[in-house]
Amino acid sequence: MATERWSSRPGFLLATVGAAVGLGNIWRFPAVLGTNGGGAYLVPYLLAVGCCAVPLLVLELAVGRRLRTDVVSAFRGVGPGYGVLGWAVAGGVLLVLSYYLVLTGWVFGFLGAWATGGSTTFAAFTAGWLPVGCFVAVTVLVAAVVSLGVRDGIERLARVVMPTVFLLLAGIAAYNLTLPGRDAALAFLFTPDLSVLGDPGLWSAAFGQVFFSLSVGQGIMLTYGSYLDDGTPLVRSSLVIAAADVAAALLAGLVIFPVVFTAGLTPTLGTELAFTTLPEAFGAMPFGRVVAVGFFGLLLLAALTSAVSLLEVVVAAAANATRLDRRRATAGATALVFVLGLPSALSYSPVRLAVAGRPVLDLVDESAGTYALPLSALCLVAAFVWAGGAGAVRAELGRLDPLVRYAIPAVLVAATGAKLLGVARPAWRLLVD
Ligand code: PFF
Repeated sequence: MATERWSSRPGFLLATVGAAVGLGNIWRFPAVLGTNGGGAYLVPYLLAVGCCAVPLLVLELAVGRRLRTDVVSAFRGVGPGYGVLGWAVAGGVLLVLSYYLVLTGWVFGFLGAWATGGSTTFAAFTAGWLPVGCFVAVTVLVAAVVSLGVRDGIERLARVVMPTVFLLLAGIAAYNLTLPGRDAALAFLFTPDLSVLGDPGLWSAAFGQVFFSLSVGQGIMLTYGSYLDDGTPLVRSSLVIAAADVAAALLAGLVIFPVVFTAGLTPTLGTELAFTTLPEAFGAMPFGRVVAVGFFGLLLLAALTSAVSLLEVVVAAAANATRLDRRRATAGATALVFVLGLPSALSYSPVRLAVAGRPVLDLVDESAGTYALPLSALCLVAAFVWAGGAGAVRAELGRLDPLVRYAIPAVLVAATGAKLLGVARPAWRLLVD
């Protein structure tokens, strides 16, 4: 039973926006948009936010608040056998956290390089052991915040960090929009080539990105909902969280693309965008160092509040299951994160740990960070809507109930199918040609 509570409504909103806004908005969104045809991607993306993420947010917050417990106990209460699903969801979160902290470590390393008067390239950075050291450093920092508790750790961090993140995003976007690459950037972001909407891969990329970016379907919002007071309106809060998350992603686009186009670089480099393309572009622009420090600084802050939310899911579940206090549960969960994250960290170090020629981190991102997300959301819907695991949660959902009950599962299955189609199509062509 969760006894801790957020201190106030703004405190709750800042913590949940802190959970949602992270590397997904600033590092992943522009990269996914860049590789998926630019502005056209916004159509499925916004549809996914409205029809899928917002109702799921309401569901998770409602279940958390009603049951006032962690994700594993919540599943366990549904009936025999459901506890396993709960552990699978929590295990998925642990895996996401394990490589998320490696990426956060890279951001920390890049910030350090630019802030101390130097700069670094991705190849130079990953040629040494610094990425592993940075992974350890940020993991310890995140664990320290979580061990301080809901109000004194998680909420206090978000209160300071989230306004800073938005101010920096808006400030740097305003400056970058004075650069010569502005018009090309705006055209790339906001002139959709609608012909690409027929590609199923585009749709599944957008839906996957929305689960990642809004932190829905994985018990994160359920855990944060268990600390929420009874009077807070759930639909309105969920709309605020979603709007803030979309705003952060669009602002990140306005920060990144003018720089990329000004430097004459290509915006479609996927995940290398933030760590390869951007540093090169920062080096070539006026006040590039100031912008680089601001950019990596805000990216680090946003990533930390998100990593804290992921660790909290596991700590709350572990504390409840083992009856350990918060500090001990945090220490145990953090040790597990180290062990699980080390292969990902080593895959971008001199060891270059790889499976079938692919870096471990990329494989974990693709499995736990992409395919598992809609599956995990399906588990939540199955337990708490179909099996009625949260009792009267239906009343909280109101008119959203049919959407959560039928439409979202249908969309989740379709999006996963589209992803499979996206993989199968080139393979089929290869066979036929
Ligand atoms: N929503 C956060 C982000 O966009 O970075 C954190 C996050 C939560 C990432 C859940 C991935 C994930 F599966």
